Amino acid sequence: MFSSHKELLKSLDSTKLVGLVPTMGSLHNGHLSLIKKAVSENEQVVVTIYVNPTQFNDINDLKKYPRNLESDIHKLRNYKNIFIYSPTDKDLYQEVVSKNYDLDNLDKILEGKFRPGHFSGVATIVEKMFDIFNPDNAYFGEKDFQQLSIIKTMVKKLGIKVNVISCETIREADGLAMSSRNEHMTKGERLIAGKINKFLIKAKELYKNKKIDKIPVSMIDEINNLKNCKLEYFEIDNLSKYSSSLMDEGDRIFIACWVGKTRIIDNITLK
Ligand code: PAF
Repeated sequence: MFSSHKELLKSLDSTKLVGLVPTMGSLHNGHLSLIKKAVSENEQVVVTIYVNPTQFNDINDLKKYPRNLESDIHKLRNYKNIFIYSPTDKDLYQEVVSKNYDLDNLDKILEGKFRPGHFSGVATIVEKMFDIFNPDNAYFGEKDFQQLSIIKTMVKKLGIKVNVISCETIREADGLAMSSRNEHMTKGERLIAGKINKFLIKAKELYKNKKIDKIPVSMIDEINNLKNCKLEYFEIDNLSKYSSSLMDEGDRIFIACWVGKTRIIDNITLK
């Protein structure tokens, strides 16, 4: 495990393929699927474990964010050619602030409306990681589809030479998208959270059968009526319409809601 990027770079062979998997730790099977893919496609893989302060618009969320470095390192012990980078703020930032990016307004919709400043924080840290490790391939999960689209847009606009590879969402048995935040939920909340994905599937079915072209109010009410549930958005959109840097991957349904004190986001393709 390295906490200094300069030390880590001494161990990387620049003539070999480098894969990068940026994470905020508390690794679950979603992260591990990205790491497995990266290991199978690169000769060396850098896994970063860093809770990046600039992407938190709420200081309490930053304080509460789960941190489980020892168990993360343990989970990665059997992977070959992996370099774990778990830095302090100082190793990355002279001043802990975000840069400004032109993200074609992709940062103003959906998550951007509810988490102002979040995406410039994400772009700042991901650009830093790209700059340090100069990876050939970088792996991001589709659970954060808007984040993935923003990273693709940033890479295109700044002319960064990296393949941004999207990896499918890994789900629990009841369909809940895996997320480090899920561990905050009580058993009762966890049961409710399992229903969120079912709403996405139901809306997709209705859309495919041409019964809806936007999410009906009745469905929004149904979610808000679940115990301890408060919807932030539930929308059909196509992110490629905002950014010419993105390929058209068709419409998707996006959802964000609170279950108790845990915020859940998810999305599915309508293809
Ligand atoms: O998706 C995440 O965990 C984070 O936003 C990322 C990409 C690691 C940047 O801090």
